[in-house]
Amino acid sequence: MAPFEAGNCRVRLTGMRYGAQDIVLYELEALDAADLPSVEAGAHLDLHIPGGLVRQYSLVAPLCDARRYVIGVKREERGRGGSLWLHDHARVGQILDVSAPRNHFALVHDDAPVILLAGGIGITPIYSMYRALLDQGRAVQLHYWCRTGEHALFRSTLEGQSGVTLHYSRHIDPGRKSLAQALQGMADDAHVYCCGPQAMLDELEDIGADLGPRLHLERFQAAAPAAVAEQGFTVVLARSGSEMLVSPGESILQVLCDAGVDVMYSCEQGICGACEVRVLEGEPVHADSVQSAEEHVRRGTMMVCCSSSRSSRLVLDL
Ligand code: FES
Repeated sequence: MAPFEAGNCRVRLTGMRYGAQDIVLYELEALDAADLPSVEAGAHLDLHIPGGLVRQYSLVAPLCDARRYVIGVKREERGRGGSLWLHDHARVGQILDVSAPRNHFALVHDDAPVILLAGGIGITPIYSMYRALLDQGRAVQLHYWCRTGEHALFRSTLEGQSGVTLHYSRHIDPGRKSLAQALQGMADDAHVYCCGPQAMLDELEDIGADLGPRLHLERFQAAAPAAVAEQGFTVVLARSGSEMLVSPGESILQVLCDAGVDVMYSCEQGICGACEVRVLEGEPVHADSVQSAEEHVRRGTMMVCCSSSRSSRLVLDL
């Protein structure tokens, strides 16, 4: 059976490598004889951590191949537990489960110039994009904000490269650029991709509001609370014709799971994209951080873990 045909895939932790201060690169090798699905720049996977935690980590695409995936993880003292387990308890040889890679932060394939913005560990998908764009011969600028050179992942390959600027804390780098300065003079048709801390993404959403669909953000923390319908609504499953009521305070995902409907999910916070479902009728209220409402309209989908309904009836392609 090919990996992921029955859901998750078992991998062995075969390497842990120093990436930068507080950042470790973890190599996960396929146990199955079949090759792993290929990894696109911007993709992430779910890592199942012993004890029941499931966490999302970006893949370092240039270091992945048909037999192994590589993720970069920063130790987050005040995180949700996944990085602490990896940094303090993971051992080479352990067997873990991972999901197939998912990509809601993919590069748009056109000829427009690209500005990549990374903050902290947000460099992981941004570095993958940088390398992919160089391979494609595209015009790219990369700005990477981190505390010091010691904290800069992939510093040896990035530093000194044309179009790449590393920005350190002000006491080291008093002239470092702000986000707004990094975007000054950008071409009208440029795409901007950003992955970093919440405050950085919020600031960019403000200053880059005019960019519309050319602004692409990757979040690893919910930007907004789940949408709660003031009144209940009915979810109709188009394939079976089943109908179920979602009461105020309940999520669609909860109701689907309670009814035994086979639906994919992972983070339950609107940040991983696993629970995306096609909407055939009705008016969803989107509350996820994976896609903008415009992208959902274009794709005709919603994330059922955190989004709700404005209409009294929502028909899903389930
Ligand atoms: S389960 Fe992650 S976005 Fe819904």
